[in-house]
Amino acid sequence: VRVALLFGGRSGEHAISAATAAGVMKAISRDKYDVLPVGITREGQWVLTGGDADRWELTSSKLPEVTTDAGTSIATLAELGDVDVVFPLMHGPFGEDGTIQGLLELADVRYVGSGVLASAVGMDKHYMKIVFAGHGLPVGPYVAITPRDWERRQDAVLAEIQERLTFPVFVKPARAGSSLGVRRVDVPSDLVEAIEEARFHDPKVLVEQGIEGREIECAVLGGRQGGEPRTSVPGEIIVDHDQADFYDFEAKYLSDTEARTEAPADLPDEITKRVRDLAAQAFDAIGAEGLARVDTFVTPQGEVVLNEINTMPGFTPISMYSQMWEASGLSYTDLVDELIQLALE
Ligand code: DAL
Ligand code: MG
Repeated sequence: VRVALLFGGRSGEHAISAATAAGVMKAISRDKYDVLPVGITREGQWVLTGGDADRWELTSSKLPEVTTDAGTSIATLAELGDVDVVFPLMHGPFGEDGTIQGLLELADVRYVGSGVLASAVGMDKHYMKIVFAGHGLPVGPYVAITPRDWERRQDAVLAEIQERLTFPVFVKPARAGSSLGVRRVDVPSDLVEAIEEARFHDPKVLVEQGIEGREIECAVLGGRQGGEPRTSVPGEIIVDHDQADFYDFEAKYLSDTEARTEAPADLPDEITKRVRDLAAQAFDAIGAEGLARVDTFVTPQGEVVLNEINTMPGFTPISMYSQMWEASGLSYTDLVDELIQLALE
């Protein structure tokens, strides 16, 4: 089976995608799969990079980047030759948002993960919440700010935020990932600056009420042919709040001490069950396929609130998605295999 691994790309999560690719290149079964790594530069140029996985490792001092000198540039998808399945290991816009999925649909190529609509909904935190709420799933209070809102009625928007939400709030670009452009705002006077910063990443911005609670995540696997999505044991993100405001880019990828993860999370059985049920419901609500990581908050009162779904979560061997499956009895190599097999179903 010939598998093309797509990574890098035009999003702010370029380096995270390359790190995910490094993990997959190292672990994928070479007996079963003929692997074709395809890097995409920040400008969108596709490059046949060859199989040197080390080059794409992410360390605290090096963010990997695909450039044209990494291999042979290609002009069209057809130049990949015969490919049985594409694994788009891409995070963020132009990778996780339905665009690459649309290209692959047009080319009639099988691919791992969610289709066009689920990817687009999962990428857009505004529509994600609308879809979750429309399915009766619990989401926190928020205000969405479109470019028109911000240009024409900024004062009204700021008033609405202060009226409807309690501080702290989190200001986020609607379509980004890895906490890029995300700021915690404790006082109303800091809102404008945070919103302007988020708008740098995406003209649409979300302001979410901060939810007090533990950060609990759950990994999901699901096939195209129906059947219940499968959920992992939940895991927990534990942030050292003396060092980090929240689980930001630095805490996620660059620091060894600002945050740690634990899988399985130490939770009462009924909360574990609630998180897993909700993760499966969130997966189905957006029509996800293949894989997703669902992030929740568990409040001190034992309520579980959905934060978001990621249809292409980071998954190096040490990423939360893989760790939660490992803790559930599915090794990283078998996970990669399972994902490819789901796409071939
Ligand atoms: N957006 C990052 C890659 C994640 O959700 O893991
Ligand atoms: Mg996300």
